[in-house]
Amino acid sequence: MTTDYLVIGSGIAGLTFSVKIAEKYPDRTVVVVTKANEDESNTKYAQGGVAIVLNKEEDSFKKHINDTLIAGDGLCDKDIVELVVKEGPDRLEELLLWGANFDVNDSGKFDLGKEGGHSEYRIVHHKDITGFEIERALLSKAHQLPNISILPHHFAIDLVTNHHIKDVQSDKISCFGAYVLNQKNGEIFTIKSNNTLLASGGIGCVYGHTTNPIIATGDGIAMAYRAKAHIKDMEFVQFHPTALYEAKGESSFLISEAVRGFGAYLRNKNGYRFMPDYDDRAELASRDIVSQSIDSELKKSGESHVFLDCTHLDMEAFINHFPNIYNKCLEHHIDLNTDWIPVVPASHYLCGGIDVDKNGKTTINNLFACGECSRTGLHGANRLASNSLLEALVFAHNIFKYHAENQSKALEVAIPDWNDEGTVITQEHILIQHNLKQLQALMRDYVGIVRSNKRLKRAIKHLDLIYEEVEDLYRESKITTSLCELRNMINVAHLIIRQSLDRKENKGGYFNIDNVK
Ligand code: FAD
Ligand code: SIN
Repeated sequence: MTTDYLVIGSGIAGLTFSVKIAEKYPDRTVVVVTKANEDESNTKYAQGGVAIVLNKEEDSFKKHINDTLIAGDGLCDKDIVELVVKEGPDRLEELLLWGANFDVNDSGKFDLGKEGGHSEYRIVHHKDITGFEIERALLSKAHQLPNISILPHHFAIDLVTNHHIKDVQSDKISCFGAYVLNQKNGEIFTIKSNNTLLASGGIGCVYGHTTNPIIATGDGIAMAYRAKAHIKDMEFVQFHPTALYEAKGESSFLISEAVRGFGAYLRNKNGYRFMPDYDDRAELASRDIVSQSIDSELKKSGESHVFLDCTHLDMEAFINHFPNIYNKCLEHHIDLNTDWIPVVPASHYLCGGIDVDKNGKTTINNLFACGECSRTGLHGANRLASNSLLEALVFAHNIFKYHAENQSKALEVAIPDWNDEGTVITQEHILIQHNLKQLQALMRDYVGIVRSNKRLKRAIKHLDLIYEEVEDLYRESKITTSLCELRNMINVAHLIIRQSLDRKENKGGYFNIDNVK
């Protein structure tokens, strides 16, 4: 199959780019491959909203830029921060045109929420299911454009690069498309394209305890890494402070940061409100600080979780803003009128990823990256809440603009078919499951919120053993999604650990006890 644009992923990043390019150029084709149902993505679960400066009386671009820089702890790219923040209102206009709905107040103005690290109310939202609404609107718009084909249950295995076409002459690596597995019939085929966009999302599942859905296995980052793209800032895994704690396991429903913005308090089991001891902004300190403070409280007490107290809040207004969270708590027999919510930090977001410039260009020719899989310089060492959806919208727009202004050079190459000669259908599902559990436990225990050189080195040793075992299996087996995902998560874990060891100074979401002077 050949297409003008190959897009890997159908979250906010992939769909926004697809819609824009397909609408502008009806004669060009866009193929979106996505490994689960077309709406399955981190985007779909986004709760809090999109950070955009709209109330110019109290807020300003300058304040949003400053909040982003403070959260990023000195490692943001200032020009990128400025660019993203200032584009917010225009990108919102576009979402509205495409049919997305956001809450308005009695005066007909956007109802703006507040979250950790924000000095003003600036979070545009749709109740507490903002991502669901954005995903709905984008898919509906994409379906109206006949030159977009969405292929659900299609898994991108690897990018096609010079290595596959046996080109050892070129001094710069180029991307020619991707090998893709049709998960329904097991067929592996090539999608050839002069323009490939990785919009494959985050890595949450590398940690067992995550707010992310099961698709978040870092595939795009691993593919780009294997293709030798530059990958940066992987040590900055963001842990969300308030995932619902469940004694039996690892599922982590998010209790939005906007709930703290609405006035909820964090308490330890004795009812003590501990956040003012750690930061003047208390519960509304940035996410890295709140997660590290909870971690410290849990280490002191030996408890498994802390609590979020909403009992003092106006419950009618709360239910109006957060119906999904309220009902989810009720399902867990937590009545927010009287009960505190047990919460614990969980892996949530990756600030680093595939290094891109302001046009989303990676270090590989004709390969672009957008959204959570990319590293743009916006977040630095710690992302400011609700800046991720904004980043995806702005960069999808920039990549679109780049393509509108520059036609990629046609890459005329003969791509060999996927070769799985000599491989057999694996009977070793237990090995995949076992290694996955080991990987997730290793990342939780040795590469969590607080790290040390000893633990990181131990993690690398254990990871190498898992890597060898899984690579052996990969070489001899017919491709399955779970095997590829595990392989990708191992690559991602390797990058997180290695780049953690390289960081000699604690910043934002990265804290290593050996770096404390
Ligand atoms: P995603 O939306 O994750 O989409 C990735 C897509 O790639 C999916 O369709 C996936 O199936 C597909 N894919 C992955 N690998 C492959 C492969 N190998 N082959 C084919 N397809 C593949 N951010 C905010 O700004 N505000 C919020 O309020 C907010 N709340 C959040 C709440 C939760 C619970 C979570 C998990 C995240 C939240 N975030 C929020 C973060 C934000 O939602 C994500 O960073 C953002 O949606 C990422 O968008 P994306 O398009 O890059 O990736
Ligand atoms: C949340 O609603 O707490 C998530 C916001 C984000 O990840 O930006």
